[in-house]
This record gives sequence, C-alpha cells and structure tokens, in this order.
Amino acid sequence: MFDFNKIQALHEATKASISIPLDPSTWPDNWKKIEFKEYKRLKRIYLPKISTQGMPSLNEVLKTRSSSRYFNSSELISIETVSSLLNFSAGAREDMKTALNLASRFYPSAGARYPLEIYIALRNIEKIENGIYHYNIKEHALEKILSEKSGQKIRTIISETWARDAQMLIVITSKFGQMLSKYGGRGYRFNLLEAGALMENFYLVSKALGLGCCALGKSIDGEIDEILNLTSEEENTLCLLAVGVSKIQ
Ligand SMILES: Cc1cc2nc3c(=O)[nH]c(=O)nc-3n(C[C@H](O)[C@H](O)[C@H](O)COP(=O)(O)O)c2cc1C
Repeated sequence: MFDFNKIQALHEATKASISIPLDPSTWPDNWKKIEFKEYKRLKRIYLPKISTQGMPSLNEVLKTRSSSRYFNSSELISIETVSSLLNFSAGAREDMKTALNLASRFYPSAGARYPLEIYIALRNIEKIENGIYHYNIKEHALEKILSEKSGQKIRTIISETWARDAQMLIVITSKFGQMLSKYGGRGYRFNLLEAGALMENFYLVSKALGLGCCALGKSIDGEIDEILNLTSEEENTLCLLAVGVSKIQ
C-alpha cells in the first residue's frame, strides 16, 4: 500500500547536504578511488573498437527519440553495435581525465563516484552467445555471468510481453554505498539522478545506432536482484531498458 508519509520522510532524510572540503588531499582514500566491478574469474569478451562514422547528428537524434514498443526478435545485431551502445552510453572515456585523474564517462556523476553497473541479457547478437553479461567498464568487455536460461527467466517476468522480443535487456544497478559514503543521505538522490542520466544516454545512443529503446518501470527489481545474485546491502537494481531492432522505424 502506498504511504505518502514514508516517501516524504525519505525525501526529507535525503535533503541535507554534507559539506565536502574543497581540497581533495584532505579526503579519505575511498572518496578518491573509483571502484570498477569485475568478475575476475570469468572469461571476457573484449568488445571491438568503436567508431562514430555514419552516426546522425545530435539534433536529428533528439528530434526523433521516442520509446519503442515493437521489436523484431529474429533480426541479428552486430557485436560492433553492442560495443558502440555500451561505450557511448556507459563506457569510460579514454580521452578525458577528471580533476581526480580518473577516466570520465559519457554521463555525469556526483563527485565522480560512478556507483552504477550494467548487466545485459543478450539474445541474437552476432559472435556472442545468448545469456546474461556484466559490462566491465574499465576493460570495455563483457563477462558472461549467467546462461541463456537465466536470460529467459528475466524475459518471462517482464509483464510487457512486447519487451521480451528485444535483443537486449539492460539492467542498471547501483552500489549505493559508493555514493553514500561521501554524500550521506543526499547520495541516495544522486544515485537515482545519475541512473536517469544514464538511461537517457541509452535512449539517445540506441536511436543514433538505429535501434529502438524503452524504459520498463514495473517493479521486478527484487526478482532481478535474485537472478543476478545481488545482495541488497551491496548492490540493487534501479531500472530496466529494452533495446533492440524496432519494427517501426
Ligand atoms: C522511469 C520510466 C519508466 C518507464 N516505464 C515504462 C513502462 O513500464 N512501459 C512502457 O511502455 N513505457 C515506459 N516508459 C516510457 C514512457 O512511457 C515514455 O517515455 C513516455 O510515454 C513518453 O514517450 P516517449 O519516450 O516516446 O517520448 C518509462 C519511462 C521512464 C522514464
């Protein structure tokens, strides 16, 4: 049952700012270090080099962006397209260094804490087996964490049946603690704001690559956390997107 008072209490609890000293040399080490999640023991698929050749202008992408709800499940998507989608939405930018001398990304992050992770249930991608993968941001690589059976499980719990046809189901999770350890309760808002910025990147980059994209808002976070073996103290699902070959261009 929806309880407005609880939501208001959460909003209040996340209102106050913590004052952060301007001089980074006074900061504790965990404020300066970016944690890159890796599944070290799993085999990696290193994604191919990316190119912006043939991409439409930002103006064109913004004018035509919309949510797609019809996907052609039988079409194959190239590994190059998957590589570009992940790189320009969530990847690390080799060319840019932040003030903290850390590779920055294609979306903003409060205090460059970058608490978000990407998991992707893939189907019908050239040169990549069906299954669920973790996106290793630092290496621009995919780590296969679960089989096609688990990918299928995610597809069946999605109530929007049309979304099951998408070649890619993208899960954005957050390691809240990475943000909260610096910003306290206000860091909770920062997590959600950052996920929204990343979500829009997926929408725009999908469009630029000729793919359809739709956010999926129904509450299946708990089931997805379970499938991905995430423990709520460490990492939680925030949102889900379906991306694939759209039936309507
Ligand atoms: C957080 C969020 C959750 C959404 N959840 C769903 C959803 O569950 N199902 C759906 O069909 N569209 C969903 N959408 C897409 C919106 O319905 C869509 O953005 C809105 O209707 C505007 O249309 P447009 O994106 O084509 O401009 C979601 C969008 C956002 C930002």
